[in-house]
Amino acid sequence: MRADTRSAFQYGLAIFTLTALLGLANATQLFGTLDRNTLLTHLHSGTLGWITMGVIGIALWIFGGRDLNTAVRLSALSTAAYVLAFWSGNLVLRAVFGATELAVVFYWWWFAVSRAMAEGYGRLSTPKLSITLGLTTLVIGSTLGVIVQILYATNNLTPENGVLIGAHASAQVGGYLVLVAAGVIEFLLDPASARTRGGEVQSWALFLAGLTLAVGVLANVQPLLLLSNIVQIVGIVIFVVRIGRRALGAPWTAATGQRHAAIAVPFLVLGLVLVVVFVQVTIAAQGDRSKVPDGLIHALDHTMFVGLMTNMLFGAILVASADRPRVWPWADNVIFWGLNIGAASFILVLLTVGSGEGRAPFTSPVAFTAPIMGLAALLGVATFLMRLRTAPQPSIAPARA
Ligand code: HEM
Ligand code: HEM
Repeated sequence: MRADTRSAFQYGLAIFTLTALLGLANATQLFGTLDRNTLLTHLHSGTLGWITMGVIGIALWIFGGRDLNTAVRLSALSTAAYVLAFWSGNLVLRAVFGATELAVVFYWWWFAVSRAMAEGYGRLSTPKLSITLGLTTLVIGSTLGVIVQILYATNNLTPENGVLIGAHASAQVGGYLVLVAAGVIEFLLDPASARTRGGEVQSWALFLAGLTLAVGVLANVQPLLLLSNIVQIVGIVIFVVRIGRRALGAPWTAATGQRHAAIAVPFLVLGLVLVVVFVQVTIAAQGDRSKVPDGLIHALDHTMFVGLMTNMLFGAILVASADRPRVWPWADNVIFWGLNIGAASFILVLLTVGSGEGRAPFTSPVAFTAPIMGLAALLGVATFLMRLRTAPQPSIAPARA
């Protein structure tokens, strides 16, 4: 494994500890209802600290090139500062570190685009194309996020331009995450995958779906939202047709990264269904977010952030560290089944019973399902950090006859 990929994974795992601990506090409500600043810390420590640092590690692994460990360290520093700024609730700090984080995002986008251009569009594999388009959507979504931060800091955020927050979230979740996940899952399940016309149509369809979703939310144009749903369904159906057989054939009982990548596929399909439901419910509510159940939004969030992205990242870390000693070999099954049974039951509870926020401690079924997922995630953090610290095992040369 490259040194810079390894350190990006390590920083990501370290920040994910905070996400999971805040998730446990939210699940049990032991510290009462978490305030908005803490919820935004839970959210962005997960999406930037864990997911985006992990994506940076994977981009270095897939695109290659010279060592960029200094850039990885600076990115982790900026991300940690931005997450802490969210926690502080200080709007000036949030605007300043939001801007440095935007610079980080631009840097890694340019890294992927320049490597992709050097290879030539026609020779790019589907995973590389998908990740490059995903990072492009991340740049767009993050620019909207920084605009929101500046409007907050200058006291200019109004109900009218507040739709920028929804457009920001839509681009990031409906575009960036879906594109990166599709590319990385394919890379993990089919490392030698060649570029095909199907893969090309899939990537551009998912890119268009993210953009039309964000613009549709921003300008409140319903036909664009419907177009987005249709194009996203087309992209995901092509993906499932291309990758489904490999996912089904993954070694489900063996402690490999492939099974994490494989189980992310049904979560991607569930995420698509929930995006479509979310858009329909939002249209029916005529854009009034207070009429959209929190349980539905939180179910969509964790399908994408944990079911899809955390499985994908755990899978990538396991595959990349396969040449290292398997510290705590028993942990692999606990992490895999705990994370997935926990996530599935938490999502089911959110959809059927609803959000547990604001309830007395341990009175909502959320308190008994989300912690299974959170504790499995923390065990994953501890196990993978230990494995990443060890040196690779020397390969044993075959004995001469
Ligand atoms: C430079 C990067 C980013 C910046 C500057 C940024 C900024 C923001 C801001 C200012 C808000 C509104 C906070 C509030 O309500 O007070 C927000 C909300 C949100 N962000 Fe980000 N963010 C970034 C990255 C991301 C990423 C990578 C994701 C997902 C993959 C994400 C997902 C969300 C979501 C889901 C919301 C909540 C929207 C809602 O409450 O409806 N953000 N972000
Ligand atoms: C990448 C990782 C994660 C991200 C980005 C994320 C994001 C979010 C978001 C956006 C919310 C909604 C906050 C609000 O506006 O009320 C939320 C709520 C919540 N999160 Fe997470 N989360 C992540 C991982 C986890 C983990 C590992 C746990 C484990 C315990 C967890 C447990 C919860 C709980 C229990 C809620 C409240 C759900 C409810 O009762 O409605 N999250 N999370």
